[in-house]
Amino acid sequence: MLSSLLPIAALVVPAFAVVQPSNTTILGQYGHVPPVYPSPNATGVGGWEGAIVKARAFVSQMTLEEKADMVTGTPGPCVGNIVPILRLGFSGLCLQDGPLSIRVADYASVFPAGVSTAATFDRDLIYQRGVAMGAEFRGKGSHVALTPVASPMGRSAYAGRNWEGFSPDPYLTGVCMAESIEGIQSVGVQATAKHWVANEQETQRNPSYEADGTLIQESVSSNVDDRTMHELYMWPFANAVKSGVSSVMCSYNRINGSYACENSKSQNGLLKGELGFQGYSMSDWGGVHSGLSSIEGGLDMNMPGGIGLYGMTWGHSYFGGNVTLAVNNGSLDLSRVDDMITRIMTPYYFLGQDVGFPEIDPSGADLNTFSPKSTWLTDDFVLNGRRSRDVRADHGELIRQIGAESTVLLKNLNNTLPLKAPTSIAVFGNDAGPDTQGFYNQVDFEYGTLSSGGGSGTGRLTYLVTPLEAINAKAQIDGALVQQFLNNTLIATSDVSTLVIPTPPDVCLVFVKTWAEEAKDRQSLDLDWDGNSVVESVAAYCANTVVVTHSSGINNLPFANHPNVTAILAAHYSGQESGNSIVDVLYGAVNPSAKLPYTIALEDDDYNGLPTTSVESSDPDAWQANFDEKLEIDYRYFDAKNMSVLYEFGFGLSYSTFELASLKISKAVESIPAVADFQPTAPGGNPALWDTLYTVNATVTNTGDVSGATVPQLYVTIPGPVGTPPKQLRGFEKVFLEAGASSEVQFSLMRRDLSYWDVILQEWAVPEGNFTFAVGFSSRDIKLSASLAVL
Ligand SMILES: *[C@@H]1O[C@H](CO)[C@@H](O)[C@H](O)[C@H]1NC(C)=O
Ligand SMILES: *[C@@H]1O[C@H](CO)[C@@H](O)[C@H](O)[C@H]1NC(C)=O
Ligand SMILES: *[C@@H]1O[C@H](CO)[C@@H](O)[C@H](O)[C@H]1NC(C)=O
Ligand SMILES: *[C@@H]1O[C@H](CO)[C@@H](O)[C@H](O)[C@H]1NC(C)=O
Ligand SMILES: *[C@@H]1O[C@H](CO)[C@@H](O)[C@H](O)[C@H]1NC(C)=O
Ligand SMILES: *[C@@H]1O[C@H](CO)[C@@H](O)[C@H](O)[C@H]1NC(C)=O
Ligand SMILES: *[C@@H]1O[C@H](CO)[C@@H](O)[C@H](O)[C@H]1NC(C)=O
Ligand SMILES: *[C@@H]1O[C@H](CO)[C@@H](O)[C@H](O)[C@H]1NC(C)=O
Ligand SMILES: *[C@@H]1O[C@H](CO)[C@@H](O)[C@H](O)[C@H]1NC(C)=O
Ligand SMILES: *[C@@H]1O[C@H](CO)[C@@H](O)[C@H](O)[C@H]1NC(C)=O
Ligand SMILES: *[C@@H]1O[C@H](CO)[C@@H](O)[C@H](O)[C@H]1NC(C)=O
Repeated sequence: MLSSLLPIAALVVPAFAVVQPSNTTILGQYGHVPPVYPSPNATGVGGWEGAIVKARAFVSQMTLEEKADMVTGTPGPCVGNIVPILRLGFSGLCLQDGPLSIRVADYASVFPAGVSTAATFDRDLIYQRGVAMGAEFRGKGSHVALTPVASPMGRSAYAGRNWEGFSPDPYLTGVCMAESIEGIQSVGVQATAKHWVANEQETQRNPSYEADGTLIQESVSSNVDDRTMHELYMWPFANAVKSGVSSVMCSYNRINGSYACENSKSQNGLLKGELGFQGYSMSDWGGVHSGLSSIEGGLDMNMPGGIGLYGMTWGHSYFGGNVTLAVNNGSLDLSRVDDMITRIMTPYYFLGQDVGFPEIDPSGADLNTFSPKSTWLTDDFVLNGRRSRDVRADHGELIRQIGAESTVLLKNLNNTLPLKAPTSIAVFGNDAGPDTQGFYNQVDFEYGTLSSGGGSGTGRLTYLVTPLEAINAKAQIDGALVQQFLNNTLIATSDVSTLVIPTPPDVCLVFVKTWAEEAKDRQSLDLDWDGNSVVESVAAYCANTVVVTHSSGINNLPFANHPNVTAILAAHYSGQESGNSIVDVLYGAVNPSAKLPYTIALEDDDYNGLPTTSVESSDPDAWQANFDEKLEIDYRYFDAKNMSVLYEFGFGLSYSTFELASLKISKAVESIPAVADFQPTAPGGNPALWDTLYTVNATVTNTGDVSGATVPQLYVTIPGPVGTPPKQLRGFEKVFLEAGASSEVQFSLMRRDLSYWDVILQEWAVPEGNFTFAVGFSSRDIKLSASLAVL
């Protein structure tokens, strides 16, 4: 969604728009949207059988007007609100952003971003982050957390919101989705998997209008073939549904020409049909462009209801009163409306939100500039809860730990790290020091370290430990001298030897950054604020230059092979304990074990899957993003084209060394039909897709002299049809080992892991031929491999 605080420069918002539903049969080169109607009813299968009985009983007591309210957001204390029905003892639903924090809140934590979380490759930490985040949403009285993010997944290095999500690898993102959702929901808060689906760029993500409301151009259409949809973009959502996610948010973009929130194939067909999703489809904020078409197309909740975006005013939405009208005039079957509400109320009962859920913190309502009190249409939101409740608990410790364990060590020449009690330290760069423009919804300010990106996925900091602050604290203990130079222009244009006295310092720590935000794609893969020149300038003088990046994701790092750049750490957006986390790694209190959740290419021009930009046309349907690269994104592409890269997916150094041995591949079942026998669909799709067919074991040993963790990774070569990537991640395990210790890791390969999506059969199929099972420490550092036919 888009906070009203954000610049909405790209959108000309008319006073009242007449927006026609898009032509859902528009033909792109990817064909049309196969119509899938009617929208399937929820059944509660997969564990919600008891809850759905309660939900149905609730629905049976509602009037039609109450039903219309329940599927339509309304202005209220939270960024999304469902109005209370006091008559039925229902106190409404409070929906809050976002992926790294409860955004509209005070006394709440800012956690590491999704990209950092993925870089841990640590299931347990990802789960713990979910639990802690869920506890903060709950503590503030928010029933629905608008997180986690599997789309954007990272088709393009430039996409503005990649940092909110996890990784361009669907397997890794799928695990991150599952652990996050299970963590959040373990404390009784509904998780929302977003943004369904193929939401891979910000540019023209929404339609554009003339001031009088006339449509200029529809939003970008992600044109994705069926196999790519299944094997990449849908994949992590299958994990989300399998984990019992309460809600799935449909995205702003069109898919094959039809808006995601009215696309019957994606919502009725793929999500509710094939994946067996039992919760509700919720729109992204302002992502609804029709009433009946959206409802029939599978949308269950219109958020935030009518608002001042895209010409709608509060109280006037495609849903709301139109639902009542449509039922009364016979164009909408009441049973569809009942299913919408059953889907909304089932997770509510399943998670026990009807009993003892904390009240909404009134301070959040005051901070909510999106629907301030002056816009509320009802007195039914009663805010009797205690104000400004501190929900941070001891989460700072977990945040510090994830921050350190998500910091990827890319280079460490001559073991310059960990630092060996340097007595003279020079700190450079505008990313080292305190934030100069506030703690909330920052822009790409010049001075101050970055702990998060911008937009609805940002957080409101209550404190921030900067790198400089944490380095000073450590230096004081060590009795070290610290000098600081935070002006990038000065550093980049100076002979650094004239700045630093005495010369040379034992180590030069350079902190540089890259901003990214919602509603905007990145223009470049360079570090911001001339960061590359800052590094060059320092390295020309300082033979021990250590570079730390705080960045939304991919940077080109042209200085990577500079002999004086002795170490590079990619710390991404590590949250409120940023400085403590990086000092823990720099000084060796934490041995780095993070891995790159994407690939850094040698040249900017090497990347594919670029966002569609600069469409010069008056055709309202001109914005077409053809996903022609199909499965070849990130390492799948570089591997398929045999291209050398700077740092590959899965790569990351440690202060120790590790070895792998003893590959064992075992069949876990008697016989394996190529296509699973039919079983009734359950959340996650055919349950057989989640059956373990093979296990792969390997023994990992810490051969260095310090303890630390590493991440053995399993890549599988599937002998699938043309276009099958050379190898794909199908397992990883983070293992902590004392120096000299060994451990046996086991990867479980489920049916889906060994299959390709067969577009003719419309089934996952395990192909004939030899598979290769390769275990290593990155996608290009394979230590063990074996080939065999699995059928
Ligand atoms: C939708 O597009 C198709 C194919 O371009 C065209 O035949 C049809 O007339 C359009 N329908 C509407 C309602 O514009
Ligand atoms: C998109 O178009 C392709 C055909 O080119 C089709 O196979 C696929 O099902 C469509 N997907 C959606 C969600 O419309
Ligand atoms: C959903 O259930 C209702 C009965 O409650 C039934 O009338 C309707 O046909 C069902 N819809 C589908 C798509 O099965
Ligand atoms: C019905 O939808 C239209 C937009 O198509 C909106 O202008 C109107 O206010 C809605 N009606 C009600 C009663 O909400
Ligand atoms: C019924 O009401 C809906 C919602 O206002 C409207 O879109 C539809 O055109 C109406 N249908 C008929 C047949 O009047
Ligand atoms: C790193 O080690 C190599 C070989 O031992 C040596 O030639 C080089 O000078 C060292 N570089 C630094 C920056 O210490
Ligand atoms: C940063 O350095 C440049 C170049 O020396 C100078 O022009 C600028 O005023 C400095 N900025 C601040 C805030 O000191
Ligand atoms: C590395 O640093 C030394 C100073 O210690 C300097 O003399 C040398 O030119 C630098 N190397 C490069 C390639 O800039
Ligand atoms: C990729 O490189 C390897 C080894 O350099 C070579 O064996 C293989 O044929 C190449 N593949 C392609 C598609 O060029
Ligand atoms: C694989 O490793 C697990 C422990 O991680 C162990 O329980 C299992 O027996 C091993 N399998 C084989 C075939 O050795
Ligand atoms: C498949 O692997 C087996 C060993 O497991 C080997 O004997 C056979 O030659 C391989 N077949 C092909 C086509 O590579």
